[in-house]
Amino acid sequence: MKRILSIVLAAVMLCSTALVFTACGGASSEKKELHMATNAYFEPYEYYKGKEIVGIDAEIAKAICDKLGYELVIDDMEFDSIITAVTSGKADFGMAGMTVTEERKQSVDFTDSYTTATQVIIVSEKDSKVKNSDDLETATIGVQLGTTGDLYVSDLKKAKVERFNKGGDAVLALTQGKVDAVVIDNEPAKAFVKANKGIKILDEPFEKEDYAICLAKNSELTEKINGALKELKADGTIKKIVDKYING
Ligand code: ARG
Repeated sequence: MKRILSIVLAAVMLCSTALVFTACGGASSEKKELHMATNAYFEPYEYYKGKEIVGIDAEIAKAICDKLGYELVIDDMEFDSIITAVTSGKADFGMAGMTVTEERKQSVDFTDSYTTATQVIIVSEKDSKVKNSDDLETATIGVQLGTTGDLYVSDLKKAKVERFNKGGDAVLALTQGKVDAVVIDNEPAKAFVKANKGIKILDEPFEKEDYAICLAKNSELTEKINGALKELKADGTIKKIVDKYING
């Protein structure tokens, strides 16, 4: 009896070690997934349609992964956490309508740009105390935490800045009269104005910004993604995706 028991035990132990080995071996020998860190409240670049994250960035990322032979996994998080996710290796790349800035370049590398944008000012349709960018100087302004909009208004010494985790929360504060204006990227601004009554975009040009994908410094993936982007630009795929969401 004892002997049978020990044979069974030995067999079980052998099996489980074998299982552990295959599990580990399988995971390390081939990497099939690429994790994209994003903040999916930024229509038309990334947003939820039901449970699925769709949008320009999601589709371009999918096209890149298809080309490079990876499966795309999108990880939704606060915008403010994306760079850390990338530098810590939790995500393979960040793509979130993210503007290339000198400050971000200190911690991550960027691919070539795949599209451009500008900041705009959203205000209440009637009786807004903000009528142009000069008026921002003395206003209460809502922004999404850690964005270029945040960076821009943080330079205005007398302005009061309210920082929100989502752009939509800043817009909500505007519709509730808690802030005088929201500074945010132009295309999401259009989507917010479309979805909310009583707000509008001011016709004030800001500097052009380049959107790009960010990766850990010196990642081998950067060159591969740049190669894929180049092909997707050349064959019209990028334009087709942008047009589908913006002009289509
Ligand atoms: N373009 C701005 C920036 O890079 C805002 C991006 C916000 N993106 C998002 N998915 N919430 O700072």
